[in-house]
Amino acid sequence: MSSDFKSVLHETRVFPPSEEFKAKARISSMEEYKRLHEESLNSPETFWGREAGELKWQQPWTQLLDWKPPFAKWFVGAKVNVAENCVDRHVEAGRGDKVAILWEGEPGDTRSITYSQLKDEVCKFANVLKAQGIKAGDRVLIYMPMVPEAAVAMLACARIGAVHSVVFGGFSSESIKDRLHDSGAIAVVTADGGYRRGKVVPLKANVDTALSGGESKVEKVIVLKRTGQDIAMQAGRDVWWHAAEAEVDANCPAEGFDSEHPLFILYTSGSTGKPKGILHTSGGYLAGTYLTSKYIFDMRDDDVYWCTADVGWITGHSYIVYGPLANGVTALMYEGAPDTPHFGRFWEIVEKYKVTILYTAPTAIRAFIKWGDEHVTKYDLSSLRLLGSVGEPINPEAWMWYHQVIGGGRCPIVDTWWQTETGAIMITPLPGVTPTKPGTATLPFFGVDAAVLDDDGKEVGPNEGGKLVIRKPWPSMLRTIYGDAERYEQTYWGTYPGIYLAGDSSRRDEDGYFWIMGRIDDVLNVSGHRLGTAEVESALVSHASVAEAAAVGRPDEIKGQAVVVFVTLKAGVEANDGLANELKKHVGNVIGAIARPDDVRFANVLPKTRSGKIIRRLLKEVAAGGQVKGDTTTLEDFGAVAALMQSQGKDE
Ligand code: WT7
Repeated sequence: MSSDFKSVLHETRVFPPSEEFKAKARISSMEEYKRLHEESLNSPETFWGREAGELKWQQPWTQLLDWKPPFAKWFVGAKVNVAENCVDRHVEAGRGDKVAILWEGEPGDTRSITYSQLKDEVCKFANVLKAQGIKAGDRVLIYMPMVPEAAVAMLACARIGAVHSVVFGGFSSESIKDRLHDSGAIAVVTADGGYRRGKVVPLKANVDTALSGGESKVEKVIVLKRTGQDIAMQAGRDVWWHAAEAEVDANCPAEGFDSEHPLFILYTSGSTGKPKGILHTSGGYLAGTYLTSKYIFDMRDDDVYWCTADVGWITGHSYIVYGPLANGVTALMYEGAPDTPHFGRFWEIVEKYKVTILYTAPTAIRAFIKWGDEHVTKYDLSSLRLLGSVGEPINPEAWMWYHQVIGGGRCPIVDTWWQTETGAIMITPLPGVTPTKPGTATLPFFGVDAAVLDDDGKEVGPNEGGKLVIRKPWPSMLRTIYGDAERYEQTYWGTYPGIYLAGDSSRRDEDGYFWIMGRIDDVLNVSGHRLGTAEVESALVSHASVAEAAAVGRPDEIKGQAVVVFVTLKAGVEANDGLANELKKHVGNVIGAIARPDDVRFANVLPKTRSGKIIRRLLKEVAAGGQVKGDTTTLEDFGAVAALMQSQGKDE
């Protein structure tokens, strides 16, 4: 194995489930977990028949799986309405008065919406979409702040079979434009603005800019009033949410759609080219998010569950909206940032709403540690009973802090490994069952046949590194890359035929636990979100002064990885701090603040292989090597290194 895969972690602490949690757990023991896991792989009809049978299918499936690698169809022949499962099912079961969404805005305004109210809201907005001419199969782009209407808009699309594509509210108009183009969306749902870190984000203005070229197919823009700021409304195209809603009733039958009817497209970064439109469909995605939420977050009737992600990411799709609501749980939604108006904001919310289950990311945990325990300990966190982590490997010390300071030593931690592509959690402990170790996502969930392979496709031995793969299809898997089946096939199924390549490296310890070691490609992971090096580089090269650019990640205490870019300038352009700042801002404008480089390094040349590929490995080392001597105007000179690489014939 190549040395890149050597793991330096040797964690020995083990935390068995507490007796208290064990006594109430849905699954009674590790033996029971193993039995069910085996059943899910060897008798999937029995397993999914029983588990997915808890959902409402308007017509049953005739075949569980139709697998023509790499194309899968799940619950073949079934008819299902995802929104009906997330909303109506609970109202029909007499739980209409239960709170579905508890919401807190960044400025401190609050709302509480019951399942009956949510049903009415979803039906009304579904009728609004219909009235605007949107039909099943049409794509609708959603660009919203973290308000309940974001979930309503998603569920309304699902109800009428329209395919939503949510774009994170922190992304720029350029990102909206790309996604509009790729998805062919005919409508946009947005808001005048949203609150973030005490500022107002101009969402509608960003949409206007994205639409200004006139190349999109967008005919309608539906605008929610959130901040009340001044915005332009284009007659004939733009309609206010509240005005449109006043014209419709709350009656919208939940039509059953084919199990494989597309539910949504969500864009994620790859190492090359434009973001990939990951396509998820109805029945399998619903079954996967329902089941994982139930077993991994142990959702119960009296829980207050809080996932701190944004609906613009897959975590928000699966674990703010679909999974929790399919389970009929009370889900909390918070609009703002964890440090606004103060560093204790999250813990204030946990205390106020008596949150029982909290799902957040290592990057947030590292920030809390840095801000200091005093912002945490002044709140009463005794309501918490279960903690979750997602987005990147959690550092063992951050795990320990989460366990002790947030969880009071009593809450199991579920470190959940999954991806936009997998739709639902794949590798995770089960609370009350799996003994946990800080830093590992432990074992595969039901229906997941995970393994670590070497380059020849052989399973590696204990503690040997290799490539993380999934050997069998699973219900919530992506079905394709929207509009690019070839890229789908190549990216995920081209390395080992018929086997899904996750793009992560991993090892398994002597207990079979999976330790994720990072990405095998050039994808960056900034604050738990994937960023493609190619996207950042294209943004830089779109600046008039830049000739060539290379982006790499540098280990960062808070963000996991910081973005470092190396640029060469066009002839006659002078490298200075002013330009460095301008380039940072430029990338922020083109992609969104999340991609803003932390460090801009100017170079005379970039180190390349003979075939002309930039040697990112070398740049990564340079980026990680601490401070550049002097200020940012220092030019890096890779000429000598490049010459050396050539003479040694080290092609990558
Ligand atoms: C990549 C997927 C899934 C929602 C959030 C990110 C990394 C995610 C873990 C974890 C180690 C993790 C992987 C993966 N990752 N969770 N618990 N332990 N690594 O979704 O943007 O699709 O990114 O995030 O590298 O491939 P995403």
